[in-house]
Amino acid sequence: MHHTKIAGIGFYVPEHTVTNHDLMRHMDTSDEWIQERSGIVERRFAKRHEETTSVLGAKAARIAIERAGITPADVDFIIFATLSPDYFFPGCGVLLQRELGITHTEIGALDIRNQCSGFVYGLTVGDQFIRSGMYKNILLVGAEVHSMGLDYSTRGRNVTVLFGDGAGAVVLQPTDEQNQGILTSKLHSDGTHAEQLAFINPGCHSGYHDKETDFGYDESVEFGGLFLTQKMMDEGMTFPTMDGQLVFKTAVTKFPEVIKEVLDDQGLTPADIDLFIPHQANLRISQFVQKKLGLPDDKVWNNIQRYGNTTAATIPIALCEAWEAGKVKKGDLICIAAFGSGFTWGASLIRW
Ligand code: ACO
Repeated sequence: MHHTKIAGIGFYVPEHTVTNHDLMRHMDTSDEWIQERSGIVERRFAKRHEETTSVLGAKAARIAIERAGITPADVDFIIFATLSPDYFFPGCGVLLQRELGITHTEIGALDIRNQCSGFVYGLTVGDQFIRSGMYKNILLVGAEVHSMGLDYSTRGRNVTVLFGDGAGAVVLQPTDEQNQGILTSKLHSDGTHAEQLAFINPGCHSGYHDKETDFGYDESVEFGGLFLTQKMMDEGMTFPTMDGQLVFKTAVTKFPEVIKEVLDDQGLTPADIDLFIPHQANLRISQFVQKKLGLPDDKVWNNIQRYGNTTAATIPIALCEAWEAGKVKKGDLICIAAFGSGFTWGASLIRW
């Protein structure tokens, strides 16, 4: 059976930088609060209506494809992880296919809705397809345009200050080299707190039935469509919500657990890790996990200071930056791990 290697990697972040001071013009917050609680100094915001999630994804993907030494036409499967898709449907996978000019149909496209752990989930799914021999050039993209869906009033400050836009991509290919590529992955989920970190509306749960249309339901029963009501908008029900402290407390438990799980699986210890790339949710979470693993600063890559939380894109962006900086060398053991909405979490070990 083949193993799966990362044959090419790329990332793209929009040019436009929004600092904490820029946010302070719209909401009651401070540079000091944001930096102290999250480490974030600035983030990038996409160009409205031009840089959609699939467009950002395509920019990252083109770099990854070129570095893998293939062309877009060689891609035989697309996996697109995002929580901020261009449309409710269809998914970003097919939009990316079109954006890359892939016109042949000997390809499949899959969207993954796993928020912060979307890239780890996507990598694990892609790994299984490569190992089974079903595909040879899988394009895995994590991309987000959060800036279009945030509440810029003081009401939304606990969430809004944390997020930014960006995209990262990898090309997965089979390798026959021993001890190279994705060594193992572990995935977890727990739906108990699904609404504690969520973007709930619009959704089928809150749709209502137009009284003009009668399907024999009691008119007082709300069901059906994906409508937004003025009430929802007035009450800020159309923005993400988060119980920050619950997320924080659960994340700092689950990160070390799942990292230990992948290390144990391979008979390795934290000391064997050459580079740890945590999902960039909050610098304090990453530092807590780093300490727990006993890793020195030069074995951890953080960039949340410059980009904020780009959700499904944080890991491929950080991995690509580290690779471009010469921090990822052949034979290195890379550990990636993520925790987020769902809750869902996971980790992978990659021998570069
Ligand atoms: N600026 C100033 N004050 C603020 C802001 C802000 N942006 N946001 C909240 N506050 C206030 C609160 O109103 C509160 O005020 P009060 O004490 O008067 O009530 C105070 O600051 C403390 O708020 P807490 O929520 O208790 O602050 P905390 O120390 O927990 O930090 C934070 C908040 C940064 C959100 C933290 O909880 C966190 O990082 N949680 C994890 C985030 C995360 O990982 N999310 C997952 C990724 S997202 C995804 O998967 C989609």
